[in-house]
Amino acid sequence: MRGKVKVKVDGIEVEVDPGSVVLDAIKKAGIPMHSLCQAGELYRGASCRLCLVELPNGKLVPACAYPVSNGLEVYTRTPRTLRTRRTTLELLLAYHRIECWICKRKGDCILVKMANDLRLEGIPICAECPLHSDECLLNKGILCLGPLTVAGCEAECPATGGRCWGCRGPITREDVVVRALRRYRELGFTLKEVIETAEIFWSAHPFLEKFKLLAEGV
Ligand code: SF4
Ligand code: SF4
Ligand code: FES
Repeated sequence: MRGKVKVKVDGIEVEVDPGSVVLDAIKKAGIPMHSLCQAGELYRGASCRLCLVELPNGKLVPACAYPVSNGLEVYTRTPRTLRTRRTTLELLLAYHRIECWICKRKGDCILVKMANDLRLEGIPICAECPLHSDECLLNKGILCLGPLTVAGCEAECPATGGRCWGCRGPITREDVVVRALRRYRELGFTLKEVIETAEIFWSAHPFLEKFKLLAEGV
């Protein structure tokens, strides 16, 4: 029987079976790792490029496809790996229709987890909100600013019985804002009242004027 292969992940030494890939070693080391191909739905065969790790010679390689070898060292969270993954995810999300307030995957979305970890803007509070479908405050006529507000507070207010007032600031990704504004209008809110509510926290925010212009065009 062939022996194990020793690999160092972020300085942690682990042993894996011959024929394993770096991602197996990362999992063995208990280090969380970005990856979409492993979710197995949209991307396969090392195509998402979100699992890039850095070798001591500075080369970036996909952890899910790079074979282990004895004495191999890899680094998972160097500034370069994080920067590259962030840009990659940003490009992937640019083609993604972000409407977390009505998404069936809400609460179980790998994109949201990665976007939050990589501090990518564009994901609304709704992605973190435990209220689904009919429970959503908007469906009860309560003007919640969740669809327009940057995620990151775990939807503290809706989760505890209140509405989101937008204290974390506005999402500035225009397509997300426009879809959210259409949603308010469809549900019977006037965009004037949405803007007035948003002004409570965003009156000094540089995006407010742009936000008003977008509302005019909806
Ligand atoms: S209650 Fe508010 S934060 Fe929660 S899903 Fe509805 S609009 Fe979004
Ligand atoms: S008002 Fe602030 S703390 Fe409350 S849900 Fe909205 S962003 Fe989060
Ligand atoms: S997980 Fe997608 S390229 Fe590795």
